[in-house]
Formats: sequence, C-alpha cells, structure tokens
Amino acid sequence: MKIKKVGVLGCGLMGAGIAEIAAKAGYTTVVREVTEDLLEKGVGRIQKSLDRAVEKGKMEAAQRDEVHARITGTVDLDALADCDLVVEAIVENLDEKRKTFGNLDRAVKDEALFASNTSSLTITQLAMSTSRPERFVGLHFFNPVPVMKLVEVVRTLLTSDEAFDTAMEWARSVGKEPIACRDNSGFIVNRLLVPYLLDAIRAYEEGIGTLEDIDKGMQLGCGYPMGPFTLLDFVGLDTTYYIANIMFEEYREKRFAPPPLLKQMVQAGRHGRKTGRGFYEY
Ligand code: 3HC
Repeated sequence: MKIKKVGVLGCGLMGAGIAEIAAKAGYTTVVREVTEDLLEKGVGRIQKSLDRAVEKGKMEAAQRDEVHARITGTVDLDALADCDLVVEAIVENLDEKRKTFGNLDRAVKDEALFASNTSSLTITQLAMSTSRPERFVGLHFFNPVPVMKLVEVVRTLLTSDEAFDTAMEWARSVGKEPIACRDNSGFIVNRLLVPYLLDAIRAYEEGIGTLEDIDKGMQLGCGYPMGPFTLLDFVGLDTTYYIANIMFEEYREKRFAPPPLLKQMVQAGRHGRKTGRGFYEY
C-alpha cells in the first residue's frame, strides 16, 4: 500500500506537529479543524514552527515555502476523501473521536488507512466505530512532535499485517523511530510514564522534597531532560489528569489514580505552561 496523501484531523499542538512532519517528508497534507478560527490558529502554529526552523538555520526559506505549499487547511471532512492515510489528533474524548471516525469512514475512500494519536483510549474501541477495523492502527506521537523521535505503532486484534507494516514504514518515512505495541490503555510509554508522574505528585504531597529538588533529582540523577513537574507543566495538568482517569478506569490500579492535588490544580485552572501557571509560573 502506497501512501501519497495524508490527512490530519485536528490542528492543535499534536495535529500541527504531525502535519508539519508529514509535509516536510514530502507528503501532500490536508489538515482539518472544526472551525475556521481554530484552523487559522493551527496553520499559524505550523507556520511559526517552520519559520523558527529557518531562523535557526535548520531549513532554507525556499524549503519552508515548499513544505508550506504542501499543506492545505480545511473545515470539511470531504476534503480528505482521497487521502491514503488519515491521522486523528482531536480532543481526547471517546465520544468525539468515535463520532468523528464514523463520519470520516463515510467521507474517505475504503482503501485508506486510519490512525489515532490517542494517548490513553484503546485503539480497538475507536476502530470499531468504522467499517475498516483491519485498516486501523494507533500512531502515538510525542510532544514536541518535530523533535521527539518516537512513534508507538499500535495494532489491535483486528489490524491486518499489511496495515501495520504500512504504518511502521510511514512512521520511518517521516523521520521517526517506530516501536510496535499491542493495544492497551497507555501503550508502552504512558503505561510507564503516567504512574511515575503521579508518584512525583504524591512524593511532593508527602513533603519529601521541594518541587525544584524533586525535579533536579530526576534531571541530574537520572539524566532526564526535564524533571517530573517541568514535564507535567509541559504536557498539561488537565491532559495528565484526563489520561490518568482513563487509565485508572481501565486497570483499577492505584498507581494510575490521579492524586487529589492534581485534581485541585486542574479545577483551579492551573493547567501548566499553556495557562501560564501549573506547578511553576511562566
Ligand atoms: N518545535 C520544534 N522544535 C523544538 C520545539 C518545538 N515545539 N521545542 C524545542 N525544539 C527544538 C529546539 O529548536 C532545539 O533544537 P536545536 O538543538 O537543533 O537548536 C531542540 O529542540 C532543543 O530545544 P531547546 O534547546 O530549546 O530546549 P531543551 O534542550 O530543553 O529541549 C525538549 C527541549 C526537546 C522539549 C526537551 O526538554 C525534552 O526532550 N523534554 C522532554 C519532552 C518529553 O518527555 N516529551 C514527551 C511528553 S509525553 C507525551 O507527549 C505523550 C502524551 O501522550 C502525554
């Protein structure tokens, strides 16, 4: 199966990154948002990232213009009709995703491969909202998408070998290192990362150390690029809370249970960098 044209659903932080790397790798890319306002914001985000690459001398201005020209924005699902691969990166909400995939299934040609960038929902329940579960995989990217090398490629009981191999190959073609993963909530990385982040909050709640010292401990003691609280603010406390709840719901294990402090911070609107304040101020 040959991928030539790629559709991306959602042009937030993750969707914009996915559209950018697809277009950079030479794919004709269509990115769809739900409103013109969100679309404008999302495409602006891609433009800004490409401009930064030029300023940093990582890309020629002419190359940036070529990449930009490969990306089309739309609010219309039908504009994705002839895509060979569609990667969904909309809001992390099961009902929204299932509804969107149902509509997408009717709008896009039968041979196309569908993928979700969900971080905690299982791929199986999303695949079953389409008539093509054998051509449905997880493609889980990491933030910031243009920088992080990893993609988790997730297969369900129903994913065909051809669809899975095509997704692995496509991930390599956009410059990423894919790892294979069986469908389960959190896949490989979040299954290990989320309990670690939640445990850092519990350690802080217990007064084991200051935010700064816990961060410094993991950064300098283990060589992590960011300590857990810097990473929590970076990922978003609302996102982490949401993921933890889904994983707790799935596994019913204490290690996935969101600590009260996380819940309160989300309720108080301290969502991390994106709101100017999380564990730290920005
Ligand atoms: N877009 C494009 N490039 C970016 C970028 C962005 N948003 N942010 C940083 N970069 C580039 C910079 O341009 C720089 O490139 P250069 O070295 O070629 O000049 C490089 O990344 C390093 O950036 P900085 O020097 O500004 O800053 P750092 O050295 O601190 O690196 C970081 C920033 C790459 C974000 C690093 O701190 C890091 O790796 N942090 C951990 C990130 C992480 O764990 N992400 C996964 C989160 S979990 C997730 O996404 C899963 C989800 O399901 C929850």
